[in-house]
Amino acid sequence: MKLMRSLLILLLFSFFLSNSFAESTLNYKFTKTYQNSAGAVTFSHERHALVYAKDCAHCHSALKIFGGEVNDLFAHNFCKQCHLDTSTGGPTDCVGCHNKKEAFPQ
Ligand code: HEC
Ligand code: HEC
Ligand code: HEC
Repeated sequence: MKLMRSLLILLLFSFFLSNSFAESTLNYKFTKTYQNSAGAVTFSHERHALVYAKDCAHCHSALKIFGGEVNDLFAHNFCKQCHLDTSTGGPTDCVGCHNKKEAFPQ
């Protein structure tokens, strides 16, 4: 009985912890710019999370497989694939994602 009770308390406590953790990290309304040799790419996480994608896991489980950070492999395959697939579109040509002025400086 005593063991059951401590297990229950532990369970409740970890539930509380994970909940407050989720809340404090749920800052998904941000935009991030990726500087690179082909011209900066500005990614609106807010628009993608709220409007363009159906769920968070769609990207986040894939992101995990790519080591947790956006690199060119992830961008040119996973990101671009969705732009090709989705009925609403999204840029698939280089300068659709990359800043044109930086990509082709005059
Ligand atoms: C279109 C793909 C995509 C979708 C959809 C998406 N995310 Fe993300 N998210 C990313 C990428 C990529 C990053 C990494 C940004 C970086 O640091 O380079 C990220 C980062 C984050 C971060 C910041 C993590 C940190 O280390 O600062 C949070 C929080 C987050 N996402 C929450 C969410 C939530 C909540 C949802 C759903 C409502 C969501 N995301 C939907 C792609 C996505
Ligand atoms: C769930 C599918 C999906 C994924 C995954 C996705 N995008 Fe998009 N993206 C879209 C859609 C839909 C649009 C908007 C198309 C429109 O309205 O013109 C868009 C638009 C964009 C734009 C144009 C500016 C804007 O915000 O409208 C950029 C740049 C962009 N995405 C970059 C990225 C990058 C970088 C990633 C990966 C980290 C990514 N996208 C992943 C669906 C996606
Ligand atoms: C869906 C958006 C998207 C499209 C389309 C896209 N890129 Fe990128 N590209 C990115 C992102 C995001 C990064 C930055 C990744 C990072 O920060 O490591 C990147 C990085 C790069 C890099 C830098 C690689 C490095 O190792 O420094 C080059 C070069 C590049 N892209 C060229 C291109 C070319 C050429 C095209 C067209 C054939 C293209 N990209 C199309 C999003 C895109």
